[in-house]
Amino acid sequence: MKDPLGYSGLHVVVTGAASGMGAATARILVQLGARVTGVDVKPTQAPVDLVIEADLRDPDSIAEAAATINGPVHAVFSCAGLPGGAFPPVDVLLVNFVGARHFVELLLPKIAPGGAIAAIASNAAMGWQLQLSDLMELVTIDGFGAGKKWCEENTQRMEPDAYSFSKKVLNAWVASRAATLITEGIRLNCINPGPTDTAMMPHFVEHSGAQIVDAFVGPIGRHSTAEEQAWPLVFLNSPRSSYVNGETFTTDGGFFGAVQTGQLDLASLFGEAGQQT
Ligand SMILES: NC(=O)c1ccc[n+]([C@@H]2O[C@H](COP(=O)([O-])OP(=O)(O)OC[C@H]3O[C@@H](n4cnc5c(N)ncnc54)[C@H](O)[C@@H]3O)[C@@H](O)[C@H]2O)c1
Repeated sequence: MKDPLGYSGLHVVVTGAASGMGAATARILVQLGARVTGVDVKPTQAPVDLVIEADLRDPDSIAEAAATINGPVHAVFSCAGLPGGAFPPVDVLLVNFVGARHFVELLLPKIAPGGAIAAIASNAAMGWQLQLSDLMELVTIDGFGAGKKWCEENTQRMEPDAYSFSKKVLNAWVASRAATLITEGIRLNCINPGPTDTAMMPHFVEHSGAQIVDAFVGPIGRHSTAEEQAWPLVFLNSPRSSYVNGETFTTDGGFFGAVQTGQLDLASLFGEAGQQT
């Protein structure tokens, strides 16, 4: 079969295209014959067709980027992200959820039925369903300004930390917004990666400690590469995946499955720190 994933000639938008999983996704999509628009706050080196510099913490910058992109857009890959630790909690929430969602919502009029959106959450969001009522408070607040205000007023409630909370909110948004978007023929999914060797990894090690990062590795015994996360994203947004929607796809080498079936014990894995995760 020629073009098995069906990307040839499609126009796709990739945020976070300057680095890591976003850059890997952009490169793969170019190879699959898509026309790729890369969006990032940093300069993008991947060989995309159009580069747009935009800051997901800034609603004007997001609006300008969305206005610059000509439709139709067939798929959006929302890969940009900020780790916790060195960055202010509100910035982490803005980049990982509020700004990312705002960008997608502004692009929707340019996405035709049959289009798809895929985002990157994290297996640090494990157990997000147990916090659903807290998460839905932010998910159901429309718009950048009101979302930012909620984040500024609720940093103390971001359990266990701003980064994990941002990824939990993202899972909840995907699960709920997918149900309304599909009535317009547009799909929405996300992946939940385990530890992946990108520019973000040293931030995780410095902030959480190597012991915590290693604890999230699980039975596969190694970190993921950026490409090993890019391919599941490419699969989710492919027109061939037309019945996959609202999926919060775990891409962590079997870590979550081992936890769910009692083969990994979180408390002993994480030790003292595990009480907070
Ligand atoms: N690396 C991991 O172990 C891991 C694990 C689970 C999930 N994730 C998530 O995967 C996604 C990709 O991260 P990565 O690991 O490839 O890291 P990365 O640092 O290599 O890439 C993140 C990209 O986001 C961009 N970005 C940051 N702030 C931005 C802003 N204000 N506006 C626009 N773009 C901005 C950066 O410039 C960078 O190009 C992120 O959402 C991250 O949270 C990473």
